[in-house]
Amino acid sequence: MNSYPIDSIRDDFPILKSKINNHNLIYFDNAATTQKPRVVIDSLTNFYQNNNANIHRGIHTLAEKATEEFEMTRSVVKNFINASSEKEIIFTKGTTEGINLIASSLSKSFFNEGDEIIISEMEHHSNIVPWQMVAKEKKLKLKTINVSDNGELDLDHFESIINEKTKLVSVVYISNTLGTINPVKKIIDICRENNILNLIDGAQASAHNEIDVKDLGADFFVFSAHKMYGPTGVGIVYGRENILEKMPPYMGGGEMIKDVSFTETTYNDLPYKFEAGTPNIGDVVGFKEAIHYIEKIGKKKIRDYEENLMKYTNSCLSDIDGINIFGTSKKKIGIFSFTCENSHFYDLGLLLDAKGIAVRTGHHCTQPLMSKFNLDGTARLSLALYNTKEEVDFFIESIKKIIKR
Ligand code: ALA
Repeated sequence: MNSYPIDSIRDDFPILKSKINNHNLIYFDNAATTQKPRVVIDSLTNFYQNNNANIHRGIHTLAEKATEEFEMTRSVVKNFINASSEKEIIFTKGTTEGINLIASSLSKSFFNEGDEIIISEMEHHSNIVPWQMVAKEKKLKLKTINVSDNGELDLDHFESIINEKTKLVSVVYISNTLGTINPVKKIIDICRENNILNLIDGAQASAHNEIDVKDLGADFFVFSAHKMYGPTGVGIVYGRENILEKMPPYMGGGEMIKDVSFTETTYNDLPYKFEAGTPNIGDVVGFKEAIHYIEKIGKKKIRDYEENLMKYTNSCLSDIDGINIFGTSKKKIGIFSFTCENSHFYDLGLLLDAKGIAVRTGHHCTQPLMSKFNLDGTARLSLALYNTKEEVDFFIESIKKIIKR
């Protein structure tokens, strides 16, 4: 961890200096949303103070400046995930909207009655409900890949539920509840061998793992800015150009059209065909600063640092009698869902909050996964690039005190 500039990184995030209930804030709710570095916060102020205008529709100087800033983010995102073209990058308001966009568009053009979709038991509600809605409307079958007791996908089961009716597989890269890093490249390879479309929910992966959509072979890859130090309200749909070309628009309105008359409308080119209405311009502009920030530190450095901290947290937490951790895959990131034998998870959350420690409590939008483990919910600690061993130590000490009480 030596060459990792943790002190200056922490200085970059103004909120980390906060006091919560008279304690220094320890922010361990990063899987829900990460905190924002000053460069991102400043970029939002700068945009509204100096560059604010609507985009793609004005010839005046400010409109051009705003458009340029907005489109620059598209290009930065394209490079960040190694897409082939800016046409493959669509801005949404988040991962949830991204999956809904794909599901809704494919339902109009791609699925036929009796087709099958495969998701997994560890999906977030946003990768379950849109497919259930499509399945109901188009009379499709939704199947799930089993998850093992330690929180890994059962790939043999996956292969056994594929058949000639399987049209799409949509799985999460990293589980927001278990922390498991799924073998998505292998899953995609299996999909390609069987001529099945794939969608990867990268919401938890984009801040922690290298993302190379070409190397993965992804057909669709969705993620959110706010889970990677960017603003809320910005999501990305990556889609292969030749697939997006064939898909009908998701929403109708301004921006997504070429010509409109009362008899007929022709649609805009990619990616604008999928971006109806005024987008979240300021936040999209700010998002590129989050990517620059990650790249400046270096993804590999971040990953190594977080992995060490994850291992340290794991060894401390697993050593405590009365704590049960859900999600013990060898390939995981620093997400720990746990229960404590003598405390309800809500009480745990409140008692930790009294010490300034923010964790998420509840079902984490994965109710089917919770049912599988016979749980109503858990407390969840999730790490990010600014967390420290000292914070973990304070957390462990606090948990031990709660258990003793
Ligand atoms: N999906 C987010 C989480 O896991 C909101 O907390």
